[in-house]
Amino acid sequence: MNSPANAPKSPTKPASPDWWLMIRKFFQHGTTIASFAPSSRFLARKILKGIDYESARCIVELGAGTGPITKELVSRVRPHTRLVIVERDPDFCKRLRTRFAYAPNAEIIEGDAAHIDQLLADRGITHVDHIVSGLPLPSFPAEVRDAIIASSARALGEHGTFRQLTYMPLVYWQFYRGYFEDVQFQLVPLNIPPAGVYVCLKYKLVRVAA
Ligand SMILES: C[S@@+](CC[C@H](N)C(=O)[O-])C[C@H]1O[C@@H](n2cnc3c(N)ncnc32)[C@H](O)[C@@H]1O
Repeated sequence: MNSPANAPKSPTKPASPDWWLMIRKFFQHGTTIASFAPSSRFLARKILKGIDYESARCIVELGAGTGPITKELVSRVRPHTRLVIVERDPDFCKRLRTRFAYAPNAEIIEGDAAHIDQLLADRGITHVDHIVSGLPLPSFPAEVRDAIIASSARALGEHGTFRQLTYMPLVYWQFYRGYFEDVQFQLVPLNIPPAGVYVCLKYKLVRVAA
């Protein structure tokens, strides 16, 4: 976690705009980035809608990119909530660390969401209240995706939510229904491209292929 002693008290402005870094990454890595623009604040707010910040003790974000959702999370969480932000790309991580150095309860981890079990265990985290995912899950190999969702569901328990953004509104509803009993979709037109969020509850122990 960030050391409060010499940390800045407010966001630090990066040298180049987020959209420029995102476009560069998109052209370098394509489907693992999945978007050429960071999420809008409308999308970031929608994916977090309904979270009870009073009761949340730990929230995990997977695939944070340049941090538009992280920013909303950081501004909402209470001091008692631990924020664990996982991002695989080193340049995004560098930006996230600089940007959120002022946030004492946010830990930025440069790591692969495929190792979420280990990342949580290393930190002694046994329960997570909400997982917010920007990962392009449908384009992951099936066994990696299954493992990420199964590990997430274990950490979330019965009542935690798995929140997933999508840039292909509603297309993957059946896909997420293959993993969870309860899948709510909400459209977010004010995003480039138009997007949506799935809020998923109640992991299916036996997965039915979508
Ligand atoms: C569609 S972008 C979303 C970025 C950001 N959350 C937003 O809303 O603008 C997907 C992000 O997931 C990251 N990512 C892809 N695969 C990953 C993995 N296996 N582990 C961690 N991060 C990953 C990419 O580097 C990228 O930053």
